[in-house]
Amino acid sequence: KIVILDYGSQYTQLIARRVREAGVYSEIHPCTLTPDEVAALRPKGLILSGGPCSVYDPGAPQLPREMLELRREDGSPLPVLGICYGLQAMAQTLGGAVERADRREFGRAHLQIDDDSDLFAGVPSGTTVWMSHGDHLTRLPEGFEVIAHTENAPIAAVRAVDRPLYGVQFHPEVVHTDYGRQILQNFALRICGCRGDWTPASFIEEKIAEVRERVGDEHVILGLSGGVDSSVAAVLLHRALGDRLTCIFVDNGLLRKGEAAQVVATFRDHFHIRLKAVDAGALFLSRLEGVVDPEQKRKIIGATFIEVFEQATEELTRELGRRPRFLAQGTLYPDVIESVSFRGPSATIKTHHNVGGLPEKLNFEIIEPFRELFKDEVRAIGRLLQVPEVILHRHPFPGPGLAVRVIGPVTKERLDLLREADAIFIEELQRHGLYDQVWQAFAVLLPVQTVGVMGDERTYEYVCALRAVTSVDGMTADWARLPHEFLAHVSNRIVNEVRGINRAVYDISSKPPATIEWE
Ligand code: XMP
Repeated sequence: KIVILDYGSQYTQLIARRVREAGVYSEIHPCTLTPDEVAALRPKGLILSGGPCSVYDPGAPQLPREMLELRREDGSPLPVLGICYGLQAMAQTLGGAVERADRREFGRAHLQIDDDSDLFAGVPSGTTVWMSHGDHLTRLPEGFEVIAHTENAPIAAVRAVDRPLYGVQFHPEVVHTDYGRQILQNFALRICGCRGDWTPASFIEEKIAEVRERVGDEHVILGLSGGVDSSVAAVLLHRALGDRLTCIFVDNGLLRKGEAAQVVATFRDHFHIRLKAVDAGALFLSRLEGVVDPEQKRKIIGATFIEVFEQATEELTRELGRRPRFLAQGTLYPDVIESVSFRGPSATIKTHHNVGGLPEKLNFEIIEPFRELFKDEVRAIGRLLQVPEVILHRHPFPGPGLAVRVIGPVTKERLDLLREADAIFIEELQRHGLYDQVWQAFAVLLPVQTVGVMGDERTYEYVCALRAVTSVDGMTADWARLPHEFLAHVSNRIVNEVRGINRAVYDISSKPPATIEWE
């Protein structure tokens, strides 16, 4: 495999993807790993990502010289590719010079290749690359040569003459670099000598073997939410462990219409997975009684979830006659970076308790089969495992569920109203082929009543807001331009069919400054 050290670039994830697309398994780790820790991962190659810092900033992440002198298992020197900051850090460590460029360079640039022997094999001598940097290399370290330049960057790519060290100032991982994929593939296959036969199918095989070996005769529990990640994890681990896996599904009474029944039908009845379904709706509702503040709702739901989960585990322990030793989670790479980013925690806008939600004091050993993967890779794996498409394509759903979509106090009646309206919206999106075109869509029940007229009667009922957004990662989002005719139809159905709602509005705010959820 190839190890990628993350210096904080927004593109680090893309490096991992491109390498995996070349059929080579890759993992991202924080740049704070020591050379020994990197060596222990037994990589065949190392990539140093870009990053937001300047190598001269106080506190800028450093690159120890030993990192560039590591050896592989077979004793050969470990190939290293530095990208942007990665190149600058490498140059600084080895005695080159990095300076603030007079002209910062962002966007497309024309790269002139001066050597096409290995890193640039198969790349035309003149090609478009994507630059994004303020600093650049002004003097090569000893024993390095320039292998490509641009008009603004005389040193755009370098190579050590007698060691497998490479660096590029541009970003081969972004699509705007025409032959970027080829360049990363050259590094992984030609320079590192990886085989290039890694696929989602081989990932499944490897994980199954790894999990079996690690778990032995012990028992594993998994918190199943019905979302993509935990669902695919459940099916994968079930393949590996059969009845030594128990899924715990907590129905908190805050799920969408029909969701709890569907989880049971899919996992227990269809996949024959041992499933403990706990109906805790009444408990959650009683704890939420009268609570209005969104963060308070989240705290209560998080704490109650842990409590219910713990109880279910104890019950299971009694049934099995011993305590499960492992806890499996469907954590994905984007969840991991949010929690380990060395740039420090960003301001808490909303506490998302789905990541690391279960406290360490529960004392399980953790299994996270998808720790290195992205959502669409997990989907591909899910597809191979025959997880139903409706699950694989389901929109993200917040841990606190409908509690943060019933604005104001949460009651059974208001939850039911919202569930009906939401189900109509989602059903129509699916029917009109729009569901997969939006990133997330849902209804929100507002705590205001407004006047309406139905037949000859005056009504005084609730308002429901419809929210649909386009987004890539949920960090920023825009409201989806759904066709007016479609919205008219949905509004009509909701107001006609859901007794208690007499008005529907469409949310036209983007994130930022709004957020996707209303609470
Ligand atoms: P916001 O509202 O912050 O939402 O723009 C971004 C994404 O996160 C989801 N979300 C949550 N997920 N627990 C979760 O597991 C939460 O408390 C929570 N709050 C928001 C939201 O649905 C959207 O996908």
